[in-house]
Parts: sequence; C-alpha cells; structure tokens
Amino acid sequence: MRVGILISGRGSNMTALIKAAKDPDYPAEIVVVISNRPDAAGLDSARQEGIAAISIDHKQFDSREAFEDALHNELLAHKVEMVACAGFMRIMTSGFVKKWQDRMLNIHPSLLPAYKGLHTHERALKDGAKTHGCTVHYVIADLDAGPIIMQAEVPVLAGDTADSLAKRVLAEEHRIYPLSLAKAINKLS
Ligand code: GAR
Repeated sequence: MRVGILISGRGSNMTALIKAAKDPDYPAEIVVVISNRPDAAGLDSARQEGIAAISIDHKQFDSREAFEDALHNELLAHKVEMVACAGFMRIMTSGFVKKWQDRMLNIHPSLLPAYKGLHTHERALKDGAKTHGCTVHYVIADLDAGPIIMQAEVPVLAGDTADSLAKRVLAEEHRIYPLSLAKAINKLS
C-alpha cells in the first residue's frame, strides 16, 4: 500500500515508519513525506532515505481549505492510498478528514482519551499520573478522538521531567506506529 507521511518537525516517527517499510514483508511503501513547515528537520531525514519530501507551507494559503486542497492534490499526485500523520501539528477540517476516512492514522503522546491536545507529558506529571503512554488512532473530525488501533503504556518514574518522560514514551511510539500501520493496512486488504 502506498503511504504518505505528514510531518511538522523532527520526524522521528516518520523515520521509524520508513525503516519498517524497508522490510520487503512490510505491507507499506512510503512514497512521499509532506511537511506544512518548510524548516522541518524531518524533510532532510526523508531525503537522506531517498524518499520524496515536499513542503506545503500552510502560511502561504488564505484558508485552511485551500491548504488542505493543495495537500490532498499532492497526496493524489503520489498515488497515496493511506496517510500517516507523524507529529503533524495542524488541525484538519471535517471535509479533508472525510476524504481519508479509515485511511488516515495519527500518533498521539498520551493514553487517549486522557490528555488530548498539547503538552501531554507536562499535564500527566502535574496530575501525578502513575502511567502514561502513546496511542495510534484513526483520524476523525474530532481532535484526538478516533478509533484506537494500538496503545503502549510506560511507567511514570519518581524524578521524571517532561523530557525524560517524553523520551520513554517516544521509544514506544517508534515501536507501535509501524505495527499499527501494518494492522490498519491488513484490515483494509
Ligand atoms: C511525537 O511525540 C508525536 O506523538 C507528537 O509529536 C511528536 C512528534 O515527534 N504528536 C502530537 O503531539 C500530535 N498531536 P516526531 O516528529 O519526532 O515524530
């Protein structure tokens, strides 16, 4: 299945997906990486892996819809069949989400439905949560609310900072995103 990855920054989850897809038995081929931020470090990492990497700067568009039209057209131009959001920090309209229904995944750094939105690690620490983690889910119009494909839990340790906790969660993100994408693809075919 031809997969496009959407990023906004570092792209470490993107790299995990690209690495997984190098296995000939993996059911996805990563055909394009698109960032809404031209300065995203992940664009260079993708190019180093020989993957087409494009930026579509949302600031160059008058409306969310116009940006999403450009994004959609670029995905179609690369014959993308499934989209993996990997640190893509734009809220999407329901019109765009509908176009990719059951074919767009997102990874979120919390055990959803806990801690939707931003600053998840800080909020978990502030609450004194004993466990934290990450979730891969289908994208629906409501933010961070789509059907869950997979979750991974990590302990919150005494003395954790947002950074140390984020690092522990990120290692699990890199493990479960490739597994979740394969699972979602196998469900379609
Ligand atoms: C990841 O932790 C991902 O879960 C999070 O952004 C980070 C991106 O890192 N996504 C969200 O917060 C989405 N709301 P990466 O660019 O290294 O993959």
